[in-house]
Amino acid sequence: VGYVGPDRSDRALTVVMEGLGRLEYRGYDSAGVALVTGERVEGQKRAGKLSNLREALEEAPLPDTATAIGHTRWATHGGPTDANAHPHRGGTAGKLALVHNGIIENFHALKQQLESDGVTFSSETDTEVVAHLVDAAFARTGDLTEAMREVVNTLEGAFTLLAVHADQPHLIVGARRNSPLVVGLGEGENFLGSDVAAFIGYTRHALELGQDQIVTITPEGYSVIAFDGTPSDGKAYEVTWDAAAAEKGGFDTFMEKEINEQPHAVADTLLGRTDADGHLVLDELLLPEEELRAVDKIVIVACGTASYAGMVAKYAIERWTRIPVEVELAHEFRYRDPVVDERTLVVSISQSGETMDTLMAVRHANELGAKSLSICNTHGSTIPRESDAVLYTHAGPEIAVASTKAFLAQITASYVLGLYLAQLRGEPAEQIAEVMRELQQVPEKIQAVLDGMERVKEIAYFMSDTRSVLFLGRHVGYPVAMEGALKLKELAYIHAEGFAAGELKHGPIALIEPGQPVFIVVPSPDSEHGLHGKVVSNIQEIRARGARTLVIAEEGDEAVVPFADVVIRVPATPPLLAPLLTTVPLQVFALQLSTAKGLDVDQPRNLAKSVTVE
Ligand code: G6P
Repeated sequence: VGYVGPDRSDRALTVVMEGLGRLEYRGYDSAGVALVTGERVEGQKRAGKLSNLREALEEAPLPDTATAIGHTRWATHGGPTDANAHPHRGGTAGKLALVHNGIIENFHALKQQLESDGVTFSSETDTEVVAHLVDAAFARTGDLTEAMREVVNTLEGAFTLLAVHADQPHLIVGARRNSPLVVGLGEGENFLGSDVAAFIGYTRHALELGQDQIVTITPEGYSVIAFDGTPSDGKAYEVTWDAAAAEKGGFDTFMEKEINEQPHAVADTLLGRTDADGHLVLDELLLPEEELRAVDKIVIVACGTASYAGMVAKYAIERWTRIPVEVELAHEFRYRDPVVDERTLVVSISQSGETMDTLMAVRHANELGAKSLSICNTHGSTIPRESDAVLYTHAGPEIAVASTKAFLAQITASYVLGLYLAQLRGEPAEQIAEVMRELQQVPEKIQAVLDGMERVKEIAYFMSDTRSVLFLGRHVGYPVAMEGALKLKELAYIHAEGFAAGELKHGPIALIEPGQPVFIVVPSPDSEHGLHGKVVSNIQEIRARGARTLVIAEEGDEAVVPFADVVIRVPATPPLLAPLLTTVPLQVFALQLSTAKGLDVDQPRNLAKSVTVE
């Protein structure tokens, strides 16, 4: 959030704190503010919820002024500590402060350069690097807009940045690439926010910035330039949402918003994992390479949706590394007598990092001498803290109880892990780079799936009184079928089951009666071992017994058409990566069916977002 008002308006801090309150759903592991006060920039920041910052400001009040920026954080680089909270200072004069959303991919190289120039860092964040760079550029140019422009051209990754400088006290400069930033246009005062919720209490006149644009706001106005310096324009519009809708980005529910954020969740989880040569660099992993190279077995432990991400991971990791992978529900792993030793890598997957069942499994693995690695979405949470290593997903906070974007991010992170282990074991760089290139294209393909969901929504509405739905899949489509069934149970309270399609003939086919809806996740026609043809035969078998077949198939796969009541298309992608696409229609289906039944999508009955009891 940023605010600049008339000289003696003295309400910048108030406005910014209110805005942060409205944005807290975007991230809530730490918060901070910085105000321009005469010669300096003063600030306060605290780990934890916004209330911690409020208390700190009550104990040590800051003078309210005319210009301020603030931030609530969802950690990516560096845990949620006071020091890592934003705003970050640049230089030593205490004149510049900066906040950032996103991930600076090349921050390591930039940081090394700054360190060799004698700069000392007070946090572990990628953001502080930018603060120092902008401060140095300001020293050269004397102009914050130009300083920001110079620096953003050296950055790679995704970012929204806001900066203030005491030598230009009546302006704030913002920049954006692949991360949102909107301007709120007031009377004699102007606002910035990562979304309109930040300023909706003050103005409904908004200006959306385009990709790679820089905006400078003053009390009287604003100006926009492109990163190359040419004058540019934002897109002005009137905000018609109320405050509650604004929090949800204009969607009716957090879940709908989160489903629509999935292209970003996947893209952000891939960001910053490779160096300039395309090699995977997981420096946050903190397990010595020799130990990882020595791993001869992997056990994945997780609960609920995360366990299905683990099942997908098994197919990919075994394929790429030839290391045997077991997947087990965490609570089952904990209370049997699992065979693990110091060469076993126990990988836990958890969005919250607090699921007690998963935590107990990690503790058990540690006691047994195994290496533990956590794939987690929440920095500083218990499971990563108690694990030897961590690979964070960058899905951003997930508010809806049932998991959607975290699931796709977990799958993405486990692909990254599998490729990294393969690299350590000498897999040719070109093959790894090829999969990474395919992965980079997935976010766009997810967007294409999302853009074509009208038909799925219609079907869901017509099926609102359905009492049972079955899901079939094979290979990586099997966990997708399980996840599709779980989503429907969680959101729509409908009996649903996912089966391995090959298992159908061994029992579940007895459930098929005329009209029974069955979703079938069809593997790519490029799949090995004739898998595609086998699933097409399964569709035929159930169709012949009267099932209503809802088929999820790749674009161009015509073989399914004669046996499908409905075909839902997803773009072609390598077979192992397909879950990132085929899951999406099943999420949308469950969401719409739940909505059609008038249920609470974000907080389904009896469920909790993080289950902290065994
Ligand atoms: C709960 C939630 C599920 C989630 C599971 C694991 O049961 O309702 O949606 O998949 O916990 O949560 P985690 O935070 O460990 O990923």
